Amino acid sequence: MTHDTATRSLPRMITNSLDAAVAQRSAARTQGETMMGTEQVATVPAARADDLTKVYGTGDAAVRALDGVSLELERGRFTAVMGPSGSGKSTLMHCMAGLDRPTGGRAFIGDQELEGLDDSDLTNLRRDRVGFIFQSFNLVPMLTAAENITLSADLAGNRVDLAWFDDLVGQLGIADRLDHRPSELSGGQQQRVACARALIGRPELIFADEPTGNLDSNASAEVLGFLRDAVNAHGQSIVMVTHDPLAAAYADRVVFLADGDVVDEIRSPSADAVLERMKKLGS
Ligand SMILES: Nc1ncnc2c1ncn2[C@@H]1O[C@H](COP(=O)(O)OP(=O)(O)OP(=O)(O)O)[C@@H](O)[C@H]1O
Ligand SMILES: [Mg+2]
Repeated sequence: MTHDTATRSLPRMITNSLDAAVAQRSAARTQGETMMGTEQVATVPAARADDLTKVYGTGDAAVRALDGVSLELERGRFTAVMGPSGSGKSTLMHCMAGLDRPTGGRAFIGDQELEGLDDSDLTNLRRDRVGFIFQSFNLVPMLTAAENITLSADLAGNRVDLAWFDDLVGQLGIADRLDHRPSELSGGQQQRVACARALIGRPELIFADEPTGNLDSNASAEVLGFLRDAVNAHGQSIVMVTHDPLAAAYADRVVFLADGDVVDEIRSPSADAVLERMKKLGS
């Protein structure tokens, strides 16, 4: 895909000044780090859950999806979250990212607690600092792939880094599908559009809920390599839910959930070690 094509397919308001939004954001981040001091930044996790609970429904129908989860997601690291279906992985991601309110406990992005924020502050925080790849993609059906990717920047009046846009869609292999709506894309293509949408603003923290669940092994390896690179080369923090030991082996640390709580973890995981631990935990 060329620059010209990207420019044509993007809303005009976001094509006027390249890189500015991203530059602004990194300047703000650098300034924040200077103000906080390097030492403190190193110790403040990218996100933190403190005794988080989430109960869906009431009475006999109540489901305790999170049962007092405490977890720190290290800054500049790639964390994988694994566990059986229904163990609370998606619920944990949604509560930690401020997409859902927990029933009890506290959630932080950096040192910002989410509980005290009103909806508008929460929306701004998510837009400026967090990328989220949904298990079910959550693409807007009426918009093309390109418009979905740039929607958040578009709504905020931010400019999109078109060189990064080209790079991203090229590496994710969706450059020739950009003018199509989600219903005209395969599951794997929709998933890659959802990845591009989460990565386009270079957020400091990315939540990825089974980002390779619909991809074949080649496309999986590319997306995982991409996420790994976001951590290594750009210092972003990533937390990724996966059922796949090979995918988990891309992470620096794997955290295992069962029945709504953290039950185990492995540092510097190999696929074999993850598989072994999954067997032990019965997932
Ligand atoms: N909106 C909801 N209303 C009621 N129960 C819910 C809701 N969302 C999730 N649950 C329940 O909460 C529990 C945890 O669900 P969650 O989606 O977090 O699991 P998960 O670990 O992501 O599973 P999977 O691997 O299948 O995606 C499950 O028992 C689920 O049925
Ligand atoms: Mg899930």
